[in-house]
Amino acid sequence: MKHTPLIAPSILAADFGNLQRDVEMLNESQADWIHIDIMDGVFVPNISFGMPVCQAIQKYAQKPLDVHLMIERPERYVAEFKNLGASIISVHIEACEHLHRNIQQIKDLGCKAGIAVNPHTSITLLENVIADVDLVCLMSVNPGFGGQKFIPQTYQKVRQLKELIIKTNSNALIEIDGGVNSQNAPLLLDAGADVLVAGSFVFGASDPKQIISELKSWVVS
Ligand code: DX5
Ligand code: ZN
Repeated sequence: MKHTPLIAPSILAADFGNLQRDVEMLNESQADWIHIDIMDGVFVPNISFGMPVCQAIQKYAQKPLDVHLMIERPERYVAEFKNLGASIISVHIEACEHLHRNIQQIKDLGCKAGIAVNPHTSITLLENVIADVDLVCLMSVNPGFGGQKFIPQTYQKVRQLKELIIKTNSNALIEIDGGVNSQNAPLLLDAGADVLVAGSFVFGASDPKQIISELKSWVVS
């Protein structure tokens, strides 16, 4: 059935000197979720922000918080992110030794569980967990920085993942993260994507709310 995509602007591209203003802008926009990128400087070569900033986001946000953990051994922190208002928590397949356990831990806390997948990681590695997850976050750039160039190989991965989801009767949503813009968005949705994360494309625009509604206006096939 045709439906509109979910749009998850990434707060990483917001103006942190005006965080309240930017979160309130997202509240008023057609954004569905607020995407929160947590980087530890170990799993990825960058550190983003931590708990006090998440607390400030939680204070003002009126939309579900979609937390993307780019950290080693995420099991150490998922309960804390749940307490900071996370509705969805995604962990990287490359950062988890016991991925199945990590997924269960997130679900036991009452959150939706997602797996994030780096550009080099094969979709076939998801075969044994796809039935248990609510979301797969396909990285369309190498994680660690906003504002990078979209990797076109992602289209093929979306199609492959969609096939796997259908074959296994999984309810997982396909989220695309990195370099999303109005050129690649319709192609991604055609390939089977359900959720679009967009950082610099939204916050770099003169009218971010307009960009969000433009992304929201596409139809998922
Ligand atoms: C990259 C992050 C992305 C990033 C997206 O490591 O996971 O969520 O904020 O930013 P853009 O849309 O600018 O590529
Ligand atoms: Zn992200």
